Formats: sequence, structure tokens, C-alpha cells
Amino acid sequence: MTHPEDASPPGPPPSSGSGALRLQARILESESLPAAHHRLLLRAPQIVPRAQPGQFLHIWCHPPDEIERPPCAAILRRPYSIARLVPPEEVEILFRVRGTGGRLLAAKAVGDSLDVIGPLGRGFSISPDLRVAIVVAGGVGLAPAPFLVGRLVETRARVILLAGAETDDKIPFRVDRPRPGRATLPDLEALGAEVTFASESVEGILITAVAEARFGELPEENAAMFAIGPRAMLRRLAEVTGTHIPLQVSLEERMACGLGACRSCVVPTTGQSGYQTVCRDGPVFDASEIDWERLTS
Ligand SMILES: Cc1cc2nc3c(=O)[nH]c(=O)nc-3n(C[C@H](O)[C@H](O)[C@H](O)COP(=O)(O)OP(=O)(O)OC[C@H]3O[C@@H](n4cnc5c(N)ncnc54)[C@H](O)[C@@H]3O)c2cc1C
Ligand code: FES
Repeated sequence: MTHPEDASPPGPPPSSGSGALRLQARILESESLPAAHHRLLLRAPQIVPRAQPGQFLHIWCHPPDEIERPPCAAILRRPYSIARLVPPEEVEILFRVRGTGGRLLAAKAVGDSLDVIGPLGRGFSISPDLRVAIVVAGGVGLAPAPFLVGRLVETRARVILLAGAETDDKIPFRVDRPRPGRATLPDLEALGAEVTFASESVEGILITAVAEARFGELPEENAAMFAIGPRAMLRRLAEVTGTHIPLQVSLEERMACGLGACRSCVVPTTGQSGYQTVCRDGPVFDASEIDWERLTS
């Protein structure tokens, strides 16, 4: 891990060979969104050129100087995906306030600083030859979608985003319903993707069923699927894509170090070791690497 002088925090630098940094990121914007979602825009110029879609920031939720004076309410950092980059300096995260860490972050004011490690983990692998990409995202799993969709669109591939949630307010984006039977996500459509949104409460359909119906639009070559969301959704997609369509999935697990050292975030995998860490080997895995039976039992 590099540790630039202008980003030096208190305390010893964590070790990581990942090229991640530990830095103080100033909050430039802090916005409450409907249904307990929140958006933070951070000044982190060192992270912008290094970050890949699917990577995350590991965030100390208390004021930076309190890192040397635990105990405190959130003793561990909290992982949040990079939602969007605004080059050359800014990084956005989108989150649902679930517990103590989220509440602390949502209460921060513009001008406050956060002690951040990132970018961490293995992000999505994007082939330059891609012709069609389907991104399937559920609930707050849509948070990293702007970064991923933006990079996919840059390859000139056709990008189809299939987004689902239990209800319209379970995602961190505005849902418009211009007429019955049509739901749009204007922020994500503006990135250049063809967007379909289905909420279980209105459309009465799971997004996995929508995805299955659209597989036929994928060519035999240079097509790929990317998925972020609940484990049941990821498993279903892994079952239906089988060996026919390359599928990358982003997994979530409770984390401590975030650096591959404590092994608190391991998930069962098909390789010889039997387990891999979400924080360092993931969070993005090829679906064939995951032992879905053990993961979801
Ligand atoms: C790689 C990665 C990227 C993530 N990106 C985002 C993101 O972009 N936006 C976002 O809203 N959330 C994201 N999460 C989940 C986020 O880290 C947790 O919601 C957060 O740590 C909860 O902290 P808390 O103190 O607010 O809640 P806690 O008090 O720690 O927990 C509150 C509730 O949330 C559940 N929970 C906590 N952590 C997780 C987790 N890792 N996975 C599933 N359930 C959890 C707990 O079981 C509990 O029910 C990500 C997680 C990982 C591993
Ligand atoms: S959180 Fe420590 S190894 Fe992943």
C-alpha cells in the first residue's frame, strides 16, 4: 500500500500489496436520499486514477483522530463500493443506512474528513472486445452501477441494465413512471445504458425472470453478464447462465481488516483452497469460482 505524504493519517499504515492508499478524504457533498439512502461525494484525487468498477472503500466512520482512541460505537471500518468517479478528484459512494456505521456517515457534514482505505479488492474484468453486456442489479446492489455501466459504455458495447427491487424506494436512484407499465431510472439511462426496472410490488416480477427472458439478446461471442445484489439473485443467475454466458458476480460479506489478513470475510469457492476472501480475492468473482450450494445453505 502506498501512503502519500499529503494523505498521511494517524496510526500505523495497514499493509496491502494491492496498490491501495490510506488517506483523509474531505466530504464535498452529503445528501440524504429517500428511504434512508445517502450519497457522499469525497475528495480523493489519489484514488480516482487507480479505481476499477466493483472495487470498494473501507471507511472509518468516526472522526479520523478517534482512530487512536477506541472503544467507539463502530470499532471496525465499513466497506462501501465506489459508485462513481468524477475525475480528476472526486469519488462518490451511495449507501443505505442500516446501522451504526451508516448512521455516523450520514450525519457527517460538508468539510468533515473521513479516514479511507482504497481502492480495495478485485473489480470487474471488462474485455475491450465486448459487444453486448447485461448488468443485473438488485436493491442497494445498484450503488456501483454508474461506475460499471459508464466503463462498459466506454467500450462501445451495447449495455443493458436490468434493475430490480422489492419496492421503488429500495434503490438509491429516482424511479420515474411516465405511464403504467413503464418505469425508468433517468440517472442511469443518462449514462447510455438501455435500462429496465422492475419492482416486485408494482410489476410483480423478479429481475432474474426478466434477465432470463433477455438472454436471447446476447450474441454467442463477446457477450458477458455482470451481477450485483442478494445472494439468491446471484445464485439463480449462475444457474441459468451455466457455462453459456460468462458471469461475474459481486459478493458482500461482513469485513474486519478489508485487506485479506484476518479471513473474517471468506466465502466457499470451488478451487483447491475451498475458501477465498471477499475483500482481497473479490468482491468480484467469476460465478464458476463460487460454491453456490455451500454459500447459500
Ligand atoms: C464489498 C462491499 C461493498 C459494499 N457496498 C455497499 C454500498 O455501495 N452501499 C451500501 O449501502 N452497502 C454496501 N455494502 C454493505 C455495507 O458495508 C453495510 O451495509 C455496512 O457495513 C453496514 O454497517 P452499519 O454499521 O451501518 O450496520 P451494522 O450495524 O453493521 O449492520 C446493520 C445490518 O446490516 C447487515 N449488514 C452489515 N454489513 C453487511 C454486509 N457486508 N453485507 C450484508 N449485510 C450486512 C447486518 O447483518 C445488520 O442486519 C457493501 C459491503 C461490501 C462487503
Ligand atoms: S476482512 Fe479481513 S480478510 Fe477480508
